[in-house]
Amino acid sequence: MATKPRQKILILDFGAQYNQLIARRVRDARVYSEVVPYNISPAELKKVKPRGLIFSGGPASIKRKDSPFPDPEIFELGIPILGICYGMQLMGSMLDGKVSGTRKAEYGKTELTVDDTSNLFEGLNPNLICWMSHGDKVTKLPPGFEKLAHTRSSKIAAMGDTERRFYGVQFHPEVVHTPWGIDIIKNFLYDVCDCKPSWTPENFVDLAISDIRRVVGKRRVICGLSGGVDSSVVAALVHMAVKKQLTCIFVDHGFMRKGEMEQVRDTFEDHFNMNLVCVDASDRFFRKLKGVRDPERKRKIVGEEFIRVFEEEASKIGKIDFLAQGTLYPDVIESESHTGATKVKIKSHHNVGGLPEKMHLKLIEPLRFIFKDEVRHVAGQVGLPPHIVYRQPFPGPGLSIRIIGECNRERVKILQEADAIVLDEIYKAGLSRDVWQYFAVLPLIRSVGVMGDERTYEYPIVVRAVTSEDAMTCDWARLPYKVLEKISNRVVNEVNGVNMCLLDIKSKPPGTIEWE
Ligand code: XMP
Repeated sequence: MATKPRQKILILDFGAQYNQLIARRVRDARVYSEVVPYNISPAELKKVKPRGLIFSGGPASIKRKDSPFPDPEIFELGIPILGICYGMQLMGSMLDGKVSGTRKAEYGKTELTVDDTSNLFEGLNPNLICWMSHGDKVTKLPPGFEKLAHTRSSKIAAMGDTERRFYGVQFHPEVVHTPWGIDIIKNFLYDVCDCKPSWTPENFVDLAISDIRRVVGKRRVICGLSGGVDSSVVAALVHMAVKKQLTCIFVDHGFMRKGEMEQVRDTFEDHFNMNLVCVDASDRFFRKLKGVRDPERKRKIVGEEFIRVFEEEASKIGKIDFLAQGTLYPDVIESESHTGATKVKIKSHHNVGGLPEKMHLKLIEPLRFIFKDEVRHVAGQVGLPPHIVYRQPFPGPGLSIRIIGECNRERVKILQEADAIVLDEIYKAGLSRDVWQYFAVLPLIRSVGVMGDERTYEYPIVVRAVTSEDAMTCDWARLPYKVLEKISNRVVNEVNGVNMCLLDIKSKPPGTIEWE
């Protein structure tokens, strides 16, 4: 089960690296959108009744037979279409215009001159900067189309058939380098497709609650609560819908940050009055991890043991029918590659995968079609406190993958104390919303120092702070020297076992955000 509104736009995925961004822009215009495979059948489209279609760009060339083509009947359904880059070339070629390869690819920021300021370009300046990335281009308009804009090297940089409501743009309106691109998208959505800007967090909450009520009825739901924003929003929505039919389970594997279990109790037990089971399973995890140093083995062990504990606790609750979880739309898009691309595994991520089938549970995933920043809006809407709404991402295996080498209670304690200082100082400096993730890492080296008149031989703490949009790439955060100085002083003075503070200044790629 996943919550979706009735009025929607479908984005046909022709393999562009920007298709998620198109979905995001449409959502920014407050219209619900989904990315679907490019070969979606006309029958399916008739069933779904989207208000409009957007053909994404893609790396393929229209000239090749093995390139992705949609079913030609798609043009007979009376649904408005906006084709972007490859999407425009598809229209050019499939609707009997002409597409040619250019000798010189057009790439990057380009000046665009608008020839027709009605329709798609209504309200826009006729001289604009846009972002191009293409080899092929439409060189002859298909019958029924008119030219809407040109650049120096593309005579037809935008085209439209107002009768059939088909539009094509050679540039990318979804990227930030086309700053007015959102206006084009809005014109398409509101004027061409007659959509209303009604996709708001308030509407989403009402819709999600009624969906959950309808699906769950009188049955019971469990939810794994980690204290992160996604699972917290899911728990809050399900609780608003079916109250005490929901039980949340919080597993403390021993690698949580300082004070985390208490925060979860305060919020969900005291404030929301939810059924909450908190399990301190740390002994089991420490036993399993004894002597284990390999990062992947650590991740596997923590992931598997987590599922075991969760399962045991769930079985004590009695008969359950549903598992609620916080899968987000980017995870769905990532795992459903529409063009068959494969990915190399860098790290095994930890979640409760495998549980639903094993326990015969049906899934409730109310966030399956929304993005992270939308989740934060919804979190505010359902009354979660700011420290949860803006909580930085925290990996499932927790501090176990930020302790290099073996994890034992002593080393976890050192890291928890140091990490709390990093968090505190960055928060106090007012930087917590600018930095994507910030935390401490405990490496497996020691060095000699002197404190008072005593020789020390202790661990350093590494400060890792990164800026990022989506965790796919990151840069190291340029923290002010004053903040670094404060962190360094405090960790060395206040944390037993630490005599040095280091700063990690790598980006991703080539690094990753976490150390293991
Ligand atoms: P990396 O280290 O791959 O991390 O650059 C990217 C993002 O993913 C988070 N991360 C995890 N999140 N379970 C999670 O839920 C995991 O096992 C896991 N490992 C890494 C990491 O904190 C960063 O935000």
